[in-house]
Amino acid sequence: KGKRAFIAGVADDNGYGWAIAKSLAAAGAEILVGTWVPALNIFETSLRRGKFDESRVLPDGSLLEITKVYPLDAVYDNPEDVPEDVKANKRYAGSSNWTVKEVAESVKEDFGSIDVLVHSLANGPEVTKPLLETSRKGYLAAISASSYSYVSLLKHFLPIMKPGGSSISLTYIASEKIIPGYGGGMSSAKAALESDTRVLAFEAGRKHKVRVNTISAGPLRSRAAKAIGFIDMMIDYSLANAPLQKELSADEVGNTATFLASPLASAITGAVIYVDNGLNAMGVGV
Ligand code: NAI
Repeated sequence: KGKRAFIAGVADDNGYGWAIAKSLAAAGAEILVGTWVPALNIFETSLRRGKFDESRVLPDGSLLEITKVYPLDAVYDNPEDVPEDVKANKRYAGSSNWTVKEVAESVKEDFGSIDVLVHSLANGPEVTKPLLETSRKGYLAAISASSYSYVSLLKHFLPIMKPGGSSISLTYIASEKIIPGYGGGMSSAKAALESDTRVLAFEAGRKHKVRVNTISAGPLRSRAAKAIGFIDMMIDYSLANAPLQKELSADEVGNTATFLASPLASAITGAVIYVDNGLNAMGVGV
């Protein structure tokens, strides 16, 4: 009760970040979000105009309240890292203080501390290309946006996280098993994210008593997933082959994040938690 969460990677009401925000809010948390700079305008306008009102409804009938939306671009750690062409870009020039370090400073100034940090973002410019056709630039961009972005967020937010706090990211089974179509180095980025979850759990646990876990989620028809191009196939595959033959709802992942953020999970850290109707446990499709 009375916890404060910062969720990076919410720009509409279709993704895992939104569902996590709802579940944490239903459990009584105050919600702050970080929204990718190029998506900020449309997200804030849609929120204001009531476009998300239907999906803002919480189980008790009240509406999800987002206390503050921060512009964020998690591929830049501080203003010195931002290239001139990005600085000059109209969408970026219209906002300020959106590098990771500045966002953490703003949250500290506005609220002092947080209890829960959620990383629900990824980007791989060459995700539709097989790994053998991925450029060095595309591979490194995937790692930067999808893996290092988490190291950076945790590094900058840790000093304002309360002891006993919890940090959560989202990963995908393509890190450990072959999932053709999840290319561009995104499988590599998720493998890094999962390995970093263990090392960060050690460092953040020893230093700040903060837990670090990642949720390996099943397929969801989010904006990001639609861009990959094979999401309907993955949903059908899961329906046909998983132990639980039902479509996965984003709320199921949201509720797991709330569990991981709660004292009920006080001994869980450094873990990859599967929320995928059990698909990960299958050896062959049947
Ligand atoms: P989504 O589109 O709702 O979320 C991705 C968010 O990342 C978007 O809001 C986008 O604006 C933001 N973003 C991209 N680059 C950014 C940057 N440089 N700085 C800040 N924000 C940035 O899609 P989804 O699918 O809910 O993704 C959330 C997480 O869940 C990702 O880590 C994804 O890999 C993971 N995931 C998704 C699965 C799916 O089937 N949708 C399955 C397993 C994991």
